[in-house]
Amino acid sequence: MKKSLVTGAAGFIGSHIVDKLIELGHEVVAIDNESANNDFFYWNPKAKNYKLDICNLQETQHLYEGVDYVFHLAAESRIQPAIENPINAVFLNCVGTTTVLQCSRMANVKKVIYSSTSSGYGMNPAPNVETQPDECLNPYSVSKIAGEKLCKMYTDLFQLNTVIFRYFNVYGDRSPTNGQYAPVIGIFQRQRANKEPLTVVGTGQKLRDFVHVSDIVDANITVALSEVNAMHYGQVYNVGSGENITILEIAKRISDNYIFIPPRIGEVETTLANIEKIKKVFGWSPKISINKIQL
Ligand SMILES: NC(=O)c1ccc[n+]([C@@H]2O[C@H](COP(=O)([O-])OP(=O)(O)OC[C@H]3O[C@@H](n4cnc5c(N)ncnc54)[C@H](O)[C@@H]3O)[C@@H](O)[C@H]2O)c1
Repeated sequence: MKKSLVTGAAGFIGSHIVDKLIELGHEVVAIDNESANNDFFYWNPKAKNYKLDICNLQETQHLYEGVDYVFHLAAESRIQPAIENPINAVFLNCVGTTTVLQCSRMANVKKVIYSSTSSGYGMNPAPNVETQPDECLNPYSVSKIAGEKLCKMYTDLFQLNTVIFRYFNVYGDRSPTNGQYAPVIGIFQRQRANKEPLTVVGTGQKLRDFVHVSDIVDANITVALSEVNAMHYGQVYNVGSGENITILEIAKRISDNYIFIPPRIGEVETTLANIEKIKKVFGWSPKISINKIQL
């Protein structure tokens, strides 16, 4: 039986990965400290669940024993809270990631998949391709991209097999809807449910590549279970849909009751993933298009 460990396991994306691993018959160790400002946490009762801080080496190290695959998602996962509290974001995303990598290394884990972000592309022109230089516009981006460098360093220096995923905008079931900084589709759905006007930031013309959470899960599982040449580890792979849509268009599809609110600092105009690399190396491609799904 394969054994997997998921950090951020009770969060939006992590909880879906846990469910899929359980379905596939893996023994699953799930770690989450419930620190996110999410409306709910999703613990799968069939996993071994630990409410712990990933930064705490003493308390978590033994959980990595015998683990084949580590899926590392625990993070300060939102841009605006990281702008408000950069020290927390940098501590969690850098020290937390180093602790996960060190525990994985000590336990001889076969593969670590690190959930990073397209925000590392900053103002690079779309479509974003992995060869573009990093451009970090906020503490979230800096701290997550530092996590990527730590993964690469653990591969180069310690031969730990790491794979770095840059997710674009993830949406789907369990997306947090709490507060003003939740992912935009979740906020719009909450506002519709409450019969409030949808709040479109700026002019709503920002373009986003939305990728469905089931495609994210599929990318994680596909890559974990693939055998590839060592040269493909320590590298960045875009995980997006390869198509984009304006925020205003999304709002209109959810409700015709919407208003505009002031723009925010530190957020880019356009995201669009070039997904040729992950297609070529791991044979993954997305199955769900936002244009064909009920929101
Ligand atoms: N959702 C997106 O659109 C998106 C886009 C790009 C990248 N990502 C990345 O994917 C990952 C998961 O994102 P998500 O949307 O599921 O976020 P999320 O906030 O729902 O999940 C993260 C989970 O990590 C937990 N956590 C935070 N600090 C922890 C700590 N110190 N110890 C243990 N657990 C801790 C939180 O309680 C939360 O449940 C994050 O690393 C994020 O940066 C997400």
